[in-house]
Amino acid sequence: MRHVTRGWERTAYRTRLCGDLRASDSGSEVRLAGWVHRVRDLGGLVFIDLRDRSGVVQVACRPGSLEPAALAAARKVGEESVIAVRGRVVRRPESAVNPELPTGEVEVEATELLVLSAAATPPIPVAAGPGAGLPAEELRLAYRYLDLRRPELLANFVVRHGLCAVVREVLSSLGFLEVETPLLTRPTPEGARDYLVPSRTHRGEFYALPQSPQLYKQILMVAGFDRYFQIARCLRDEDLRHDRQPEFTQVDVEMSFVAEDDVFAVAETLLPRVWKELAGVEVEIPFARIPYREVVETHASDKPDLRIPWPVRDLTAVLEACEFRLFRNVAAAAGRIRGFAASGAASLSRRELDALDGVAREAGAGGALWLKWAGGEASGPFAKHLNDGQRTGLLERAEAKDGDVVVVVAGADAETAPALDALRRHLATVLRVVDAQAHRFAWVTEFALFERERETGRILPARHPFTSPLPEDVPLLESDPLAVRARAYDLVYNGNEIGSGSIRMHDPALQKRVFRAFGLSDEEAEQRFGFLLEALRYGAPPHGGFALGLDRMAMLLAGAGSLRDVIAFPKTTAARALMEGAPAPADEAALKELSIQIVQERSHV
Ligand code: AMO
Repeated sequence: MRHVTRGWERTAYRTRLCGDLRASDSGSEVRLAGWVHRVRDLGGLVFIDLRDRSGVVQVACRPGSLEPAALAAARKVGEESVIAVRGRVVRRPESAVNPELPTGEVEVEATELLVLSAAATPPIPVAAGPGAGLPAEELRLAYRYLDLRRPELLANFVVRHGLCAVVREVLSSLGFLEVETPLLTRPTPEGARDYLVPSRTHRGEFYALPQSPQLYKQILMVAGFDRYFQIARCLRDEDLRHDRQPEFTQVDVEMSFVAEDDVFAVAETLLPRVWKELAGVEVEIPFARIPYREVVETHASDKPDLRIPWPVRDLTAVLEACEFRLFRNVAAAAGRIRGFAASGAASLSRRELDALDGVAREAGAGGALWLKWAGGEASGPFAKHLNDGQRTGLLERAEAKDGDVVVVVAGADAETAPALDALRRHLATVLRVVDAQAHRFAWVTEFALFERERETGRILPARHPFTSPLPEDVPLLESDPLAVRARAYDLVYNGNEIGSGSIRMHDPALQKRVFRAFGLSDEEAEQRFGFLLEALRYGAPPHGGFALGLDRMAMLLAGAGSLRDVIAFPKTTAARALMEGAPAPADEAALKELSIQIVQERSHV
């Protein structure tokens, strides 16, 4: 791994690292220190697989070479104990070579062995290897230091480190300055709740932990820093999902005197380097740019997986007149009938096709229907309700060929889109049409600046409220705010959102108009964001930027199954830290000093 240097192996306890030993080291005297990965006691002879961060090597403990006391210790030593060994590297006999292990051609013939720290029986099977059944995640998180010893998990952190190293190298070479911004701050809205920290010296007042460095990075542009980046910790009190953590890390970037093309050019320099160095792949640039309205129409998602070849089509016009009652009803209720042709899906069994209904329901739609077109015959739940013209119209509109299945979902867009997205992803996996070697990045652009909150009907910023509207839509700010498009963009990689950003407002008057458009009075705006508005009054350059989810990128690059596998000490989905036990009640004296009184019983989630 290019981003892990060598030369640090020699310390008071060792001369070499376990995983580095090779046949060319045969004959050399070494001192090693590490953890007992496995022990095999063959009667007279004891083999210990010794592990450190670099890997595993076999240590042979033979009666002729080791003192009886040391041999007895080797026989007794428990897995995961820490030992130090002195010995000679020897070639293994041909029959004992282990081709699975980089050190498999050699072993270390121990002459001294010392137990530095005996381990209790570990509740996590560190040496079980990938694919072995792991204990429940709660247990793994409670004994995180043991879980992290698993080489599979450690490997993720080597990738994560490499990612940070490339980010620093590339952004530095492009003129960016790394600057740290505060953790104790005023609220920075990114759409989640704030974590609040009570002030002891200013009773009754609170700091907010930053949801992102958004405001600081904009103010650094006002300060003339021109190009800023930070590998920044963000804290958001929100309902967790598998791809979210309450504490996560962003590669946060801001630039002055830029428009979208300049910002995209930086990401299109940085990400190909990251993917080249950490995944060994060439990424094509420039990335695709797709306006939001187009992408939700053709991919039924704003996180399109461009590796899936089947465009979604509006089939309402061809299906609303057919005999099938559901289609008529949906069209009459101003809903739409949309679908796509899954190529080759005619090979699926009836059961697999019927299962599509469940996939759509799970995603929140009423269900899914399908029409199979094979050998010049149409079949499926609504096939017999179509006349020849309707059937031909449907196949043409969906661009279906013989051997395809047209998958159809009818209803309001808000329900059908997640279902169509889930169905496309599901079938692409089942039919293996996704090329695992393909790396497709895309910018999704022209998001709406505002959206209507479902519960309250209020108009709110669709992302943070510092995003600039498109100049041609500015006149609509007061008359038709929901029609205003933003100079905002998301970066999507193989169907995952890995980043987002925007061009900001550098004109305080426009910023105030945007605040007003979602009901923030000038007084409220001054109270909450007065420091930003004030800064913008002192000469602010046009500026914009983006933030990449560092954990998400590390997860995707490492091929990890969860964000928790790339965060050293992650939280559970209930936002608990199980190893150290956080959150925890504060002691009475501390609360008193903060003038805080607990008025409600603790919840026990
Ligand atoms: P945004 O909120 O979209 O933008 O965040 C940017 C990227 O950060 C990652 N991300 C997360 N990763 C793990 N857990 C979470 N809870 C989480 N939330 C977000 C995602 C996301 O794309 N200040 C703006 C950026 C800007 O406008 O420059 C911001 O924070 O990959």
